Amino acid sequence: MEDVRTHSMAGKTCVITGANAGIGKASAEQLAGMGARVVMVCRAREKGERAKAQVETKSGSRAVELMLADLASFDSVRALAREYQEGHDSLHVLLNNAGLARIRRSLTVDGFETTFQVNYLSHFLLTNLLLPSLKKNAPSRIVNVSSVAHYGGHVDFGDLQMERGYGVMRAYSQSKLALVLFTRELARRLEGTSVTANCLHPGTVATNIWGSALGPASFLAKITRLFMLSPEKGAETQVYLASSPDVEAVSGKYFEANREKRSSAESYEEALAERLWDASGAMVGLG
Ligand SMILES: NC(=O)c1ccc[n+]([C@@H]2O[C@H](COP(=O)([O-])OP(=O)(O)OC[C@H]3O[C@@H](n4cnc5c(N)ncnc54)[C@H](OP(=O)(O)O)[C@@H]3O)[C@@H](O)[C@H]2O)c1
Repeated sequence: MEDVRTHSMAGKTCVITGANAGIGKASAEQLAGMGARVVMVCRAREKGERAKAQVETKSGSRAVELMLADLASFDSVRALAREYQEGHDSLHVLLNNAGLARIRRSLTVDGFETTFQVNYLSHFLLTNLLLPSLKKNAPSRIVNVSSVAHYGGHVDFGDLQMERGYGVMRAYSQSKLALVLFTRELARRLEGTSVTANCLHPGTVATNIWGSALGPASFLAKITRLFMLSPEKGAETQVYLASSPDVEAVSGKYFEANREKRSSAESYEEALAERLWDASGAMVGLG
């Protein structure tokens, strides 16, 4: 795979959600090392401060900033977008990376199933709220971190919140398919703006996500970690989509290992993507 870290990101500002750990932190390190100003969005101050210090040390950059937001709360996402726009003129890359998988069903303060809100709905809201900044700074890019799990996903309008028969993989796969459909619909709506939207699977990466996904069976993750990619390697495709001149004009596509790949059949259903967009707008309170 081409080493994209040789491209300069000087003068570019990147916002990364879930930047205190795993693939998000590795992406922050790589993009900061390429010269970008990096805004790390994290939910906990202490963990965020620690990760920011590590990113600065590893990248040698001081152009790293911490902003706090809990993606399990729409109020928190709205506050983040407001504070960002009050304090920053530039935004060139929005990397929607934060994600989780929950062994048991739970609801957020907004009353939505947690996986669906954190992985998908809050990124839908954040993206829409930051679109004016992205358009003003075009050419700019939106990169959504989906997963190979989306192939097993189905968007079930009869049970979007998984009230019947919750399963960790069912919830996770639906949220990741929603991200692919969102990417397609967003790219369609952004045609002619020089703002692109793409999504990706980062590979199977040794990160914290496996602990909460597997619950009591999390010991399995400890064994299988040996066969997984490092977070640094796992960050490569999203850093590629955020920075490579090769994909400057590419939009609405799904990638793995720096290559465009066909996503699931359901992810190409245009009417479904449009219906999901409208339903999501209503759920997050966008007009
Ligand atoms: N690892 C893999 O094999 C794999 C495969 C396919 C896709 N992915 C995707 O890659 C992305 C990064 O995951 P990862 O593997 O790096 O896992 P990770 O190490 O668990 O990182 C997930 C990040 O998301 C943040 N996050 C979780 N809930 C949040 C919330 N309510 N508000 C704000 N931030 C929140 C976490 O913050 P805290 O540390 O505070 O929890 C953390 O920074 C996710 O979208 C994941 O679905 C991973």
